[in-house]
Amino acid sequence: MEAAVVLSLLLALTFSRVNIVLTAQSEESQVQCVCENTQCEGTCQGYNCFFIVVHDHVTRGCFEKDQREQCYVSGIHGVYTNCCYTNFCNANTTVPTKPVDPSESDSVVVLVVVPLLVLLVLSVGLCGVVQWLRSRRQHQHLQEHAPPMIKVPSGGDPTYGDIFDEFCTSGSGTGLPYLVQRTMARQISLVECVGKGRYGEVWRGTWMGESVAVKIFSSRDEQSWFRETEIYNTVQLRHENILGFIASDMTSKNSSTQLWLVTHFHELGSLYDFLQYSTLDPEGCLRMCLSVASGLVHLHTEILSTQGKPAIAHRDLKSRNILVKRNGQCCIADLGLAVIHSQSSDYLDVGNNPRVGTKRYMAPEVLDESIRVDIFESYKQTDIWALGLVLWEITRRTFVNGIVEEYRLPFFDVVPSDPSFEEMKKVVCVDQYRPCLHNRLHSHPILSTIAKIMKECWFQSPSARLTALRVRKTLAKLDQDQDIGTYKLKVDV
Ligand code: ADE
Repeated sequence: MEAAVVLSLLLALTFSRVNIVLTAQSEESQVQCVCENTQCEGTCQGYNCFFIVVHDHVTRGCFEKDQREQCYVSGIHGVYTNCCYTNFCNANTTVPTKPVDPSESDSVVVLVVVPLLVLLVLSVGLCGVVQWLRSRRQHQHLQEHAPPMIKVPSGGDPTYGDIFDEFCTSGSGTGLPYLVQRTMARQISLVECVGKGRYGEVWRGTWMGESVAVKIFSSRDEQSWFRETEIYNTVQLRHENILGFIASDMTSKNSSTQLWLVTHFHELGSLYDFLQYSTLDPEGCLRMCLSVASGLVHLHTEILSTQGKPAIAHRDLKSRNILVKRNGQCCIADLGLAVIHSQSSDYLDVGNNPRVGTKRYMAPEVLDESIRVDIFESYKQTDIWALGLVLWEITRRTFVNGIVEEYRLPFFDVVPSDPSFEEMKKVVCVDQYRPCLHNRLHSHPILSTIAKIMKECWFQSPSARLTALRVRKTLAKLDQDQDIGTYKLKVDV
């Protein structure tokens, strides 16, 4: 009798191991999961179950196979995530859910069928040993690849920067997993509206005590939300001169759809706002111009590496779409109209946004409709036209010889506010008018160089214009010379 008990225990062990193998082998099959705080309430069926906790906000549900990579995150402060592979294994968030736990019922089944199986034991024994060895390997594999339970933070609350850095350095893609984005977005309190326009509204919000910017898209501009969300989630765009992305979220409220884009908040607001009430000295002007050009170079450049990016043209560059940072640099925002190009993969993705760029900033070839829309280079050239206009806006607000000009929009002197396409076309294409450059600019080494750059951004012929890289290099050289000059001055003194 004792031998039978030992034998049945051995068999139970063997079969529970077999069960592990089956759990691992049946990865293709569907599991039932608890579903909470996501679109499916109650239960769902999917490839595996997940649970995610972001600051006590629990989300449970199912991932499809192609969402699996969201499971593979490393220790992140304040974010707990786990995936598991058995029915309803995500029911409990406090106890780590092990993907390979044999269920008790299986053991019971095994115990019930033991008497029958005893008869087969000799023939099965060999198979059992082989299975056991194999299952142990798979068990180890699953434990190595299943996401570990996230460590409880030892310090204070994390910032979104901490969370982002953890995800980015964990190599899990270009940004936060969608569920973490959604959870974070739903923890934001909107504080004050800082901008309003045809596009919708921009709010300052707070997340865990930190300010964030929330752009709420108007329903008619939903394509811009889709495009910007797509780009930020698929392209590695972290750059000091590109507005930092945090999360995108789509919610349904009173049967209407709310589209949010959450980004870093810059309290100085847009370059347009900033220039209304601020003036610059030539060094500050150079710093701003160089930062905008650097952001544009980053967008325009395809980077070929594992952490690379396709080339992107903005198509709506203007002072309202540039934000001013506390360090005197700027960052470029609003990728809702951007086009993506990869020479290496030979594709051009112009999106399907019915929106067009801002008429005031449109290049001549856009206004006379001669632009070659099938060639990526064309879009970069229109960005350069607009870059020249932004540099012009900045230089107007720069003191040289004690002289500064009032803030004005480009072409303020020749078109009304909200100009029509035809009005712009007449000025830019027919009359070939260009913004005036004040004489004072020519008497300063920095401003005269920027004036020359502007003129070369405004050539009628798109291919004659400077590239963003050339603009950045010229400005960077000025910056360097200025540093050397300052250094020399210090040493001489
Ligand atoms: N206006 C538009 N976007 C903004 C941001 N990210 N921060 C501050 N003001 C803004």
